Amino acid sequence: MASNAPYSGTAGLRSRTISIGEQTIPYFFGEDCIAEIARAIANYGPDKLVIVTDDRLAGLYARDIERLARGIPSITLTHPAGESMKTPAVLSDHLETALRAGITRRSIVVSFGGGVPGNLAGLMANLLFRGVRLVHVPTTTIAAMDSVLSLKQAINSGVGKNHIGTFYAPTAVYTDVRLFDTLPERELRSGLCEMAKNCLAIRPGALNQLRAVIASDNLAAPNNLLWLLEASIAAKSAVTRNDTFERRAGLVLEYGHTVGHAIEICDYRARGAAGIPHGAAIAVGMLVAAHISHARGWLSDDEVSTHYEIVTGLGVEPALPASVHMDEVLAVVADDNKKGYLDARPDAVPFVLLRALGRPELSGGLPLVHVSMTEIREALEVIAQPSAPASVVGV
Ligand SMILES: NC(=O)c1ccc[n+]([C@@H]2O[C@H](COP(=O)([O-])OP(=O)(O)OC[C@H]3O[C@@H](n4cnc5c(N)ncnc54)[C@H](O)[C@@H]3O)[C@@H](O)[C@H]2O)c1
Repeated sequence: MASNAPYSGTAGLRSRTISIGEQTIPYFFGEDCIAEIARAIANYGPDKLVIVTDDRLAGLYARDIERLARGIPSITLTHPAGESMKTPAVLSDHLETALRAGITRRSIVVSFGGGVPGNLAGLMANLLFRGVRLVHVPTTTIAAMDSVLSLKQAINSGVGKNHIGTFYAPTAVYTDVRLFDTLPERELRSGLCEMAKNCLAIRPGALNQLRAVIASDNLAAPNNLLWLLEASIAAKSAVTRNDTFERRAGLVLEYGHTVGHAIEICDYRARGAAGIPHGAAIAVGMLVAAHISHARGWLSDDEVSTHYEIVTGLGVEPALPASVHMDEVLAVVADDNKKGYLDARPDAVPFVLLRALGRPELSGGLPLVHVSMTEIREALEVIAQPSAPASVVGV
């Protein structure tokens, strides 16, 4: 009999609950715990596992992927690593392969990887037989601390990022922080920047602990990672508990994203995969947002300094990448996807701004306000001075 019992076979793992609207999703995590994860998956009683990963992970973790399946018939679907694989063509290939391999409604789709395999697996689980069970085993900090804490599942279209998607809840999430050992430093820090965003915009009470983690000079220490996971789950649940679709309180998660996402896109155009990582771009976007709030008289000098302290503590250069021009960033910002949440205004975009740390300014009940392109330009001009210390950049 297929079981959905989330807690069987999880002895030895820490557990928390992710609350997203009506959904409560168990999240288990620990160190060196693939055997426990395999036991928990087996306890769901699947007839087959469809493991979605990428080529890099399939090489690095072939043995762990085999252990995950533990005698359950399984197929492993893989693709070259990276964002360029989040396409309808790869999704369609994976669906066909899974169906030809004879999966049924009792099968489970397991993502083993970062946000890219995670999003592909999420869409597959939603589409196969109009919904089969989904289990995430995230292997990047972005996936473990951000993407699996959301029901959003999306791939890219030829027109733009995450344009084809849906909302779908996993049955459970299992993270083994040992899998982060092989994560390149830039990927590790990228996830921690999203975590820093949660502290600045949602849970400033966790900032002192984050400072201690940064000061320990070993972000990848298992105890640090386990704390960061717990703190991410608590922060995200606080705003998604009553907002399944992240269209109300959950919009605060977009802090730093309006400008950050634009910087990421512009640098990707300039330098391809060598461009600024997602989390670092969001961190620079948070500095821009902090300067705008400061100019409005909302954030204090100290609160802006805290932004700089955390962002630079995570190793992010508090400046626009040299390959990115401010005008280009502004052009992308003008097309931001939060348009439509507030009434349209010429020369302004909806933006998440903080009144104080952990307190977004609201309009119409949403954590969004209109910000003029002039205000954004002025803040970018401050940021555009590479390596300018906080004391001379208007703080
Ligand atoms: N709400 C959401 O659904 C949400 C939120 C945040 C990000 N995302 C999506 O997630 C994606 C970015 O996530 P990502 O950075 O995890 O991308 P990713 O899956 O492409 O992983 C980044 C790189 O790290 C490598 N990698 C993964 N785990 C590794 C490990 N343990 N050791 C060594 N290398 C490893 C991968 O092979 C890849 O090259 C984007 O597509 C973004 O849209 C979605």
